[in-house]
Amino acid sequence: MTDSCDLVVRTPETQDEWSRYYGLRWQILRKPWNQPEGSEKDAREHDTWHRAVFCGDRMAGVARMQMNTVDEAQIRYMAVAEEFRGMGFGRMLVQSLEEVAREQGAERVMLDARSDAVGFYVVLGYRVVSDSYLLFDKIQHYLMQKEFY
Ligand SMILES: CC(C)(COP(=O)(O)OP(=O)(O)OC[C@H]1O[C@@H](n2cnc3c(N)ncnc32)[C@H](O)[C@@H]1OP(=O)(O)O)[C@@H](O)C(=O)NCCC(=O)NCCS
Repeated sequence: MTDSCDLVVRTPETQDEWSRYYGLRWQILRKPWNQPEGSEKDAREHDTWHRAVFCGDRMAGVARMQMNTVDEAQIRYMAVAEEFRGMGFGRMLVQSLEEVAREQGAERVMLDARSDAVGFYVVLGYRVVSDSYLLFDKIQHYLMQKEFY
């Protein structure tokens, strides 16, 4: 499927792209738990770095990075559409955001990973630091971290 499309990782640009960006986030990270549209956003959307991976015209995945302190970055809202999983898109999103984090002076990146996604982040060099929170009373999260050296 990906052989036949151009791959690009970048920030959404048009209103349509932003709408698809938040739509994908909601579809994957909120809708399955009956959370309303709008619940996929938080107060820091205008103060953060956004990346979408495009396969031709199709948006395959999305993710966001924020700076928590001068040396700590956090990746949030990582979501790859089901039909595009296992093709390296998640890795591309994380790498792109790590690059921004380094440019911003981060010494480490932390994130709260859903239990299902812990293995994905381990492959990308993150380690589990501790248990984190329980989202929607159901989804156990783990605090994970990667140091830049
Ligand atoms: C987790 C998720 C982002 C992974 O995206 P993806 O595009 O399928 O991952 P990639 O294809 O880039 O995988 C990169 C590597 O991680 C591995 N990997 C991917 N998902 C994995 C998982 N759940 N467990 C263990 N390893 C995993 C791949 O095998 C690949 O390893 P390799 O390079 O050695 O072959 C995607 O499955 C997803 O969106 N899931 C639902 C939402 C979610 O859980 N988001 C994270 C919230 S914290």
